Amino acid sequence: QDDQFKKVISHAKEYGYVFQSSEIYDGLSAVYDYAQNGAELKKNIRDYWWKAMVQMHDNIVGIDAAIFMHPTTWKASGHVDAFNDPLIDNKDSKKRYRADVLIEDYCAKLEAKIDKEVDKAAKRFGDAFNKAEFISTNQRVLGYQEKIDTTLSRMAKSLEKEDLADVKALIEELEIADPLTGSRNWTDVKQFNLMFGTKLGASAENAMDLYLRPETAQGIFVNFLNVQKSGRMKIPFGIAQTGKAFRNEIVARQFIFRMREFEQMEMQFFIKPGTQAEWFEHWKETRMKWHLSLGMGEDNYRFHDHEKLAHYADAATDIEFKFPFGFKELEGIHSRTDFDLKQHEEYSGKKLQYFDHEDNASYTPYVLETSIGLDRMFLAVFSNSLVEEELDNNTTRTVLKLPAVLAPVKAAILPLVKKDGLPEIAKQIVDDLKWDFNVDYDEKDAVGRRYRRQDANGTPFCITVDHDTLEDNTVTIRHRDTMEQQRVKISDLRDLIKQEVDV
Ligand code: GAP
Repeated sequence: QDDQFKKVISHAKEYGYVFQSSEIYDGLSAVYDYAQNGAELKKNIRDYWWKAMVQMHDNIVGIDAAIFMHPTTWKASGHVDAFNDPLIDNKDSKKRYRADVLIEDYCAKLEAKIDKEVDKAAKRFGDAFNKAEFISTNQRVLGYQEKIDTTLSRMAKSLEKEDLADVKALIEELEIADPLTGSRNWTDVKQFNLMFGTKLGASAENAMDLYLRPETAQGIFVNFLNVQKSGRMKIPFGIAQTGKAFRNEIVARQFIFRMREFEQMEMQFFIKPGTQAEWFEHWKETRMKWHLSLGMGEDNYRFHDHEKLAHYADAATDIEFKFPFGFKELEGIHSRTDFDLKQHEEYSGKKLQYFDHEDNASYTPYVLETSIGLDRMFLAVFSNSLVEEELDNNTTRTVLKLPAVLAPVKAAILPLVKKDGLPEIAKQIVDDLKWDFNVDYDEKDAVGRRYRRQDANGTPFCITVDHDTLEDNTVTIRHRDTMEQQRVKISDLRDLIKQEVDV
């Protein structure tokens, strides 16, 4: 699993998908840049979502709200005051969640260290040690690093001596100050403000405190009435948008899974109060179908219904995906009631109501939300596509089996040799196809190596121009996944590729 994940990260770098931000300065933690292929893949995922959500629904429109919003927005949404617990009603549950995130991360780091130190003993006393790690992690988070280090090394020695009683005692010692169970409580976590603050204004005295938005949803809520009126939208209707969001995540890790600057693709569906249960089911099903339409395997998805609900929600579920490090949240579907609109009504003093002509009555609509991280979707697609295949001739090939509709480059055009007029024909094909698809021209190295390069790059088709082309205007088209080759007319290429890469 770990190895596979490492391969994903290095492949993403080697083939121009994702780079660490500001790498020449040793990078910036949990901030990433999308490179030449990554930017294309990301755009294609965004377009695929937009097409399904906006273009294909005549009652959903798309907007592009600003990242900066009036600071009162975040008071109304609950993000400012409840920074300790901005999103979930049950404070303990939120704290618990945060702790879990931290624990996971530190456990991963500690694992390597511990494995090395006490490999043998740790195996024998696996459970005891896991518990110690778990507890010590909590404390490390709260700054008890020194104590933990001492206790851990003492524990390592006890394990080596197979002194289980001492190990148990040390675990208890750690447990006493366990913030989750004992004397320290998680109010210490207050410093973890999720929102990035910034200033608007020329002089320091007059500057206004702003936040970079931690979710795109609020840009939709505050525009609800503007869109409804200008678009003459009738309930039920949706507003969709994609855009950057920023969170000062305490622990950001696992590559582009949890970032500090990321992109969301969200849709708020405004409905009549009382109909939320059926719309919740509708959007669960619709969003799952969207995922499955990419053909990445039904077994890789599952729903995870929330038992503990955020204060604004009356139902919530996650679509989880099987990442290289296990099933994790990819998308959230939330029945948000009228919480957000009501809050904005209260804070702005403006009515955000809908007049229902059928009922001859006004009401504050309820909202069904679908929210997916674009970067997380990128990781899902990329990690799922990267495979190493054993070939018949006992060699292996690395192939990035991206769904064709998402692949950055749809076809590579390869002249068999760099002479006899073949490059000219190949370039002519490029010029012809580039109106419809992103295509590449590649003449360097033997054709077999070029095929491998394109396989690793995720290009679904290679089109080879050879000497027969000069005679009959046909070329070889090779399919990435099956490696099958077909002889086709140049004039048929566009339609052939279209069939595969169009939605
Ligand atoms: N408006 C609702 C909302 O923002 P969320 O569960 O906090 O809900 C929705 O976020 C989605 O955004 C998540 O399912 C995940 O895909 C993505 N996401 C959240 N935080 C992220 C982060 N730090 N890095 C990358 N993606 C993130």
